[in-house]
Amino acid sequence: MKIAGVDIRLDESMGLQTPVPERPMLFRPYPLRGVVARNRIILGPMSQYLAVDGAPTDWHLVHLGQFAMGGAGIVFVEETAVEARGRRTLNCTGLYTRQQAELFRRTTNFIRDLGALPAIQLGHGGRRAAVRAPWEGRAPLDPADPAGWSLISSSAEPHGPGRRKPEALDAQQIRTHIAQWAHAAELAVDAGFDVLEIHGAHGYLINQFLSPVANRRTDGYGGDQAGRMRFALEIVEAIRKVWPKDRPLFFRASVVDGKGGHWDMDDTLCFARELRDREVDVMACSSGGLTGSSDLPSVPRVPGYHVPYSEAVRRETGLATVGLGLITEPQQADDLLTAGQADLIAVAREMLVDPYWPVHAARALGVQDWINLLPPVYANRLLPRETERAQFFEATQKPAPWRRGQNLPARSEQT
Ligand SMILES: Cc1cc2nc3c(=O)[nH]c(=O)nc-3n(C[C@H](O)[C@H](O)[C@H](O)COP(=O)(O)O)c2cc1C
Repeated sequence: MKIAGVDIRLDESMGLQTPVPERPMLFRPYPLRGVVARNRIILGPMSQYLAVDGAPTDWHLVHLGQFAMGGAGIVFVEETAVEARGRRTLNCTGLYTRQQAELFRRTTNFIRDLGALPAIQLGHGGRRAAVRAPWEGRAPLDPADPAGWSLISSSAEPHGPGRRKPEALDAQQIRTHIAQWAHAAELAVDAGFDVLEIHGAHGYLINQFLSPVANRRTDGYGGDQAGRMRFALEIVEAIRKVWPKDRPLFFRASVVDGKGGHWDMDDTLCFARELRDREVDVMACSSGGLTGSSDLPSVPRVPGYHVPYSEAVRRETGLATVGLGLITEPQQADDLLTAGQADLIAVAREMLVDPYWPVHAARALGVQDWINLLPPVYANRLLPRETERAQFFEATQKPAPWRRGQNLPARSEQT
């Protein structure tokens, strides 16, 4: 095998050796078409706002690489725009040029070498694009600014007060636009990704077509739910034509809009069946992004706050789901899987606190050889240390030599 381009010859195979039936559910491999996630832990997509001209930088290699080193099964790159206008900020990632695809290769190779599946979330900000980074207050970029660009959406409705008005795509522009999603998916193959997720949530472009709050069209891409779903479903179909049959396709949905929105669980169940029929494999169940005038409540931020959605989609449609939202504890994650509330677990913010969360979770859940989840070059040195420690603790009745007042080795001998 290779790690970071260096050939490594291992005596034993890499990864956990505990027999699968003896592992907690969180650490059982999960087959996805022609690829297998080594466990059911996903690093959720998180925008970093540190790309240059849409291309990943050293930040992405180190930031994403650490989650593969820390034992995640699937490592997601942040929402990555299918065209320059789709970037939410000037420094969001994009996948619309060959050069961007080539620059992603270093990161995807590194992630795969460490035993995780490299995954990309493709998206388009639509009317929510072209703003400054969160730490600059997300203020809209001025189109007159060389860094600014025009916005597109389903309708010429701004996202909210103080936000710029987008241009509504016409039918011809929609066709051209959908081809850009397919092109990005082709580039994702070249970039070495094993998993592709379409971002259809959080009030971004696809969501702007799905929701009647944003979509005021009267043509075949608007009106009733079938019309509003058409844009998303045509994107799925276009991507499925070019994305290899042996690689899984995920879709992230806002299962409910949240406060005041006009999209609820029944809409999602109908939509999920359409996705399933178009060979989407997994729905990542999220919420929010659009607010409207209904009495739908906001989603309270309690541990596992999106999991009831994942459970319902899974139960009612048979589509596999990702459970997410304030999942921070290993036992919590494992219980959600054994209770059939999700097929996979995405952890986002907690992984920023602890990129080795999967390794720590394996230890906490009693996986005997949890050390084998670490990169083999680490595990190789740590396994003998664990044996030494075990031997020592087995003999705990006998006080350690230095406690008996025996001489410690001289400092120079303590290498
Ligand atoms: C810094 C940050 C950036 C995010 N960027 C994205 C993104 O690019 N795409 C997406 O679908 N969700 C994004 N999210 C949402 C997360 O993927 C996740 O669903 C959410 O944080 C809830 O999970 P958690 O409680 O484990 O963090 C982002 C969240 C954070 C904190």
